[in-house]
Amino acid sequence: MDLGLQAEGAKKRNGFIGGLGFIMAAAGSAVGLGNLWSFPYKTSVSGGAAFVFVYIFSVIVFGLVVMVAEIYIGKRAQANPVTAFKKMHKNLGWLGLIALMIPFIIGCYYAVLGGYTLKFTVNSFSDNSTVLQTFSGNVGEVILFTVIFMAIAVVIVMGGVQNGIEKASKILMPVLFVILVAVVIYCLCLGSGVKEGLNFYLNPDFGALGFNGVLAAMGQAFFSLSLGMGIMISYGSYAGENVKVGRSALLIALFDTLVAVLAGLAIFPAIYHYQAETGIALQNEGIVLMFASMPIVFKTLGVAGKIVSFFFFGMVTIAAVTSVISLLEVVSQFLIQRYSLGRKKTIAVLGVIVLVLSIPIGISLGFSLNGKQDLTIAGKNLLDFFDLVSNTVLMPVCAFGACVALGWFTFKGESKKDRFRSKYLNDRLEEEGLKLGKFGMIFAFMVKYVTPILIAVIEVVGVLEKVFPVESGKSYFSLNGLIIVLTAYVIVLIAVVVYFALLKNKPTGSNEDELIEKKKPSGAEK
Ligand code: PHE
Repeated sequence: MDLGLQAEGAKKRNGFIGGLGFIMAAAGSAVGLGNLWSFPYKTSVSGGAAFVFVYIFSVIVFGLVVMVAEIYIGKRAQANPVTAFKKMHKNLGWLGLIALMIPFIIGCYYAVLGGYTLKFTVNSFSDNSTVLQTFSGNVGEVILFTVIFMAIAVVIVMGGVQNGIEKASKILMPVLFVILVAVVIYCLCLGSGVKEGLNFYLNPDFGALGFNGVLAAMGQAFFSLSLGMGIMISYGSYAGENVKVGRSALLIALFDTLVAVLAGLAIFPAIYHYQAETGIALQNEGIVLMFASMPIVFKTLGVAGKIVSFFFFGMVTIAAVTSVISLLEVVSQFLIQRYSLGRKKTIAVLGVIVLVLSIPIGISLGFSLNGKQDLTIAGKNLLDFFDLVSNTVLMPVCAFGACVALGWFTFKGESKKDRFRSKYLNDRLEEEGLKLGKFGMIFAFMVKYVTPILIAVIEVVGVLEKVFPVESGKSYFSLNGLIIVLTAYVIVLIAVVVYFALLKNKPTGSNEDELIEKKKPSGAEK
């Protein structure tokens, strides 16, 4: 039966063969550095279990709703995000363009971090504990590892949706999970310090959570689930009839959350074990936690530490690769379809562009890790700058757009009243094939009324906080914040202008176009 599906899938459509392949690929995108290090450290500084609680709430209230919306938007369109938005409303295609710009930006800095993870994997059997500073300051080496990392991702995406992304995800994701569980068990068995580590990580402290913690949890949910950036639309478009959108979204979100929580169960007991043994406290925030503190811990664990280090960073590399794959795919999907380009060439060129842009980001990060303030924008190193532009400002715009487009613009309704009724929306979605059972009405209501408002709040508060940061209870105007926010809105403006000027009245392609391209006589290649 499996074979039957495969043959049919391979013949007729450009997309994932099976539901499991889709889930693995989407989970591959979702599970990334955000799970393995941002989530644990945000949890530890923002109230432990209290943060986890708000995070899970955010995953349910926005995460799942936006994810179902995006996967479904893609699935119904069977096309890239620009076409998918266009199919909901002709004047909304620009949202698809913004959706593409976000993964492009993220791809440029993720590539650098991917290079780091690879370096630390390869270097596991030598001494990783002092490598961060020398490596990050060594431009040539950073570029070298970024290139190798990108080459792996590029080769996978070149293989296509079925033979590249789906196959790789189906192998890599289970491997990642098995390694993670093994590392967690190892770290929980370290003995001294484990309890303190767990306590530090998860002890609920609603005071430490605060409003900022709540915002951080919501933002983290978006980033971690790869929402608000076209990825789930793109992957959803490759989902076949057999994919159940609601169930898949639930499984992806569950898996993503599980990995995030587990990662902390490995990291903090290990860090505190070291502290208990040596009396030295290690820094447990951000990039330093992953690339400086963890290697110090591994070093003190002797031979076992080297092996664990290899698997640990190998796992982080896998997580990064399967995320970068999705970033590359979503951008190239549009280019391939809109301009009838060949997959391999498109991805190769895109990979090179991303690489070139990643170089200044890598240099800037190296400076900042070595305490220098060179090559910054708005007072930030380039990685943090672009991270803020894409995640704080652009992502909510796109997620908001996805909800509003599906909730308000897709089905016109016979009367004005229809437009406001969740039941009407639910009925239309069911007719079209989105089967959510008893959750259908809740989804329709959320996607129409609740989720967009909450996302708008995240956007507005996030933007205001950038422009008017609060220090010791007072808010101040910040030119740097303004630069970040303006950069993001200039990107929005460019997307709007480009769409209306160049794309609105032209065909923007669909998944079938790639099949047609393939059918061209092979002699056409050269
Ligand atoms: N979701 C990924 C993570 O948690 C990040 C990511 C963002 C991946 C955007 C792909 C695209 O790290």
